[in-house]
Amino acid sequence: MLFLDSSDPKEIKEIMAWGVISGITTNPLIISREAGNVDLKQRIAEVCAVSRGHVSVELTTETEQEMMAEAMGYVAWNPERICVKVPFSEIGMRVLHQLVQKGVPTNVTCMMSFNQMYLAALAGATYVSLFSGRVRDMGYDVRPIVRDTRAVFDREALESKILIGSIRQMIDVNEALQDGAHIVTVPPAILRKMLWNPRTESTIAEFNEAWRKRGGDQ
Ligand code: E4P
Repeated sequence: MLFLDSSDPKEIKEIMAWGVISGITTNPLIISREAGNVDLKQRIAEVCAVSRGHVSVELTTETEQEMMAEAMGYVAWNPERICVKVPFSEIGMRVLHQLVQKGVPTNVTCMMSFNQMYLAALAGATYVSLFSGRVRDMGYDVRPIVRDTRAVFDREALESKILIGSIRQMIDVNEALQDGAHIVTVPPAILRKMLWNPRTESTIAEFNEAWRKRGGDQ
C-alpha cells in the first residue's frame, strides 16, 4: 500500500483522486515546513476531510504523562481516523503499551533498526516506521533491515505493518516494496514522478496525432 507523507490538504485532495492512497502520515517537521504556525487541530481536520484511512499525528511532548494526555487529545479529534505517532524511546514504549491497551491505533516512528521495530511490534503497534533515507544518511544499507524485519514478522505472525518513510527518491519506493514493506509513505513530489515516463508520453502523443490525422493523406 501507499500512504502520502504530507499535511497539505490541497495536495492530498489532488492525489487522493488517483485512488492509490490508503492513509496519511504527518510529522512536526512536515507541518512546520508546509504551514508554519497553523492551528494543528484545524489542519488535521482538513486533512481528514480530503483523505481516507489513518491520519498519523505525532506526539511532541516528552514525558509519559504529557504524551498520554497529548495522544488522547488527538484521538478525541477523530477517533475513527487518528493514528497516534509515537516517537520510539523507552518512554515511547511505555506510552505505546498504554495506547495499545486502550485500543488506540499507533504508528511508532523515527526507527532506524530491526531491533527497534521488533520491540514496537511485540508491544502491538499498528504500524512500525523505518526511516529509509535517514538510515542511508548514516551509511547503512536499509534493504536487509526491511527484508529481515518482514521475515521475522511473518515467522512470528506479528500483526504490525512495516511502514517505510523518509523516502528521497523513486527507487526507494520500489526497493522498499520489493524487500517486504507492507506500506511506503511517499512525499507528493516523488509520487508525481512515479507517473512519468518519456516513452509513455511520446507513445500517447504518437497515437493521438495518428487519430487526429486519420483518413487524411499519411
Ligand atoms: C514518516 O512517517 C515521516 O513522516 C517521514 O517520512 C520522515 O522522513 P524525512 O527523513 O524526510 O524527515
